[in-house]
Amino acid sequence: MQNSKRFLNKIKTQMQVLDDYSDNEEYLLVSKTLDLPMGKILLRDNFSMNERQRIIKRLKRRLKGEPLNKIFETADFYGLEFSINNFVLAPRKETEILVEQAIKQISKRKGKVKVLDLCTGSGCIGLSIKNNFKDKVDLVISDVSNKALTVAKKNISKLGLNDVVVLRSNMFERLKVDQKFDIITCNPPYVSYKDYETLPDSVKFYDPKISLVGGVDGLDYYKNISRNLKNFLKKNGKAFIEIGYNQKKDTDLIFKDYKRKFIKDYSGNDRVIILSL
Ligand SMILES: C[S@@+](CC[C@H](N)C(=O)[O-])C[C@H]1O[C@@H](n2cnc3c(N)ncnc32)[C@H](O)[C@@H]1O
Repeated sequence: MQNSKRFLNKIKTQMQVLDDYSDNEEYLLVSKTLDLPMGKILLRDNFSMNERQRIIKRLKRRLKGEPLNKIFETADFYGLEFSINNFVLAPRKETEILVEQAIKQISKRKGKVKVLDLCTGSGCIGLSIKNNFKDKVDLVISDVSNKALTVAKKNISKLGLNDVVVLRSNMFERLKVDQKFDIITCNPPYVSYKDYETLPDSVKFYDPKISLVGGVDGLDYYKNISRNLKNFLKKNGKAFIEIGYNQKKDTDLIFKDYKRKFIKDYSGNDRVIILSL
């Protein structure tokens, strides 16, 4: 057996004990560390001592529970690569559903479309939308965390996007009252205090608490959105809000004054609520 294959098998055996190990993660670890395309890893007969040391340094972090995307400070989302760090939530696969739905809606509209992405974090939702439409979309992204906004700004440059307004705001507080949007997107913190305690360490220690916890029952942000949305949505506007897998009943009630439609994620869980006036 090649030395490289033997080395990879050794890493795999160690990584497999992790609760959140995913298939072929060892290849990703090596590929990202050495900046080598995955397909080329096994073409190498061996790794140099220096290369092995660099891999092992990161393996040690991974074995302590740190997710690979936090180790390498990048995450793939909606076909794009976003910079991330421990001050932002690592973008989740299921959030792509929300982006897909918003893009479908914007595609149907003629002329400029004004979009607001609240609780933007890394900017993954708003910036994926803007990247898809470029000039057709006027985008405002906002978050209460300055450190998250620094990451979002980095992603604006990384994606080469222009004219994105970045606003530090506690939810709708700093938006002008006469400012109305065609589309509002938001993936708010929605974990309850109790559920937060049961989250795996890979989430609790590496995603910021402020990005996860939505009050005692996890519903505080939905209540805030429900109170304010009518003031910031145009007459024919739509809002796309992510919800937790078990929050359909609660959010259906909280948003009872709006027209509502629920969209499921790939696992069959209700994941997005689409609201209109
Ligand atoms: C679940 S994360 C979503 C991040 C990103 N939009 C995504 O989907 O990956 C929630 C975000 O809400 C922000 N946040 C928390 N409290 C807030 C508040 N009161 N006003 C605005 N943003 C807030 C956090 O800083 C965090 O970036």
